[in-house]
Amino acid sequence: MLVLEKNALSEEIENLVGEFGKDRSALLQILQAIQGKHKYISDFAQQEVARMMDIHPVEVNSIVSFYAFLYSEPKGRYIVRLCQTISCDMSGKEEVAEAVQRELGISFGQTTKDKRITLEFTNCLGMCDQGPAMLVNEKVYTKLDPETAVNILSEIK
Ligand code: FES
Repeated sequence: MLVLEKNALSEEIENLVGEFGKDRSALLQILQAIQGKHKYISDFAQQEVARMMDIHPVEVNSIVSFYAFLYSEPKGRYIVRLCQTISCDMSGKEEVAEAVQRELGISFGQTTKDKRITLEFTNCLGMCDQGPAMLVNEKVYTKLDPETAVNILSEIK
């Protein structure tokens, strides 16, 4: 990261801490604001948040790691989340998982080289009676099989 970018990010975090306050209860809001703008929270950003809030960097990192919607590294433009919870698992999630990995040439937890698609597992999406279910950014797809899942991916590839 360039020095100029670091300075700009530090200033931005300083403004956020000024706006939300230094109390620990503001930590999640500050992290969400950084995530909202940059799409991830870099190590540097985490360290700066910790420094400006007078807390240990491990505490900031544990929050980033805990919440599935906070990322410590850049993700793809599309985040594909396949439900791994029991109902979807029993209705064919594994076959769908294999098909999407094959189609994208990546494993779960990885992002395509062109930074377009990130593949992740998620827990129950509340569509248990219509599994396997998958979320592509905000949109839910249900009753998937390997073929329909691959068709959905080819629309966003
Ligand atoms: S178990 Fe997959 S949506 Fe609930």
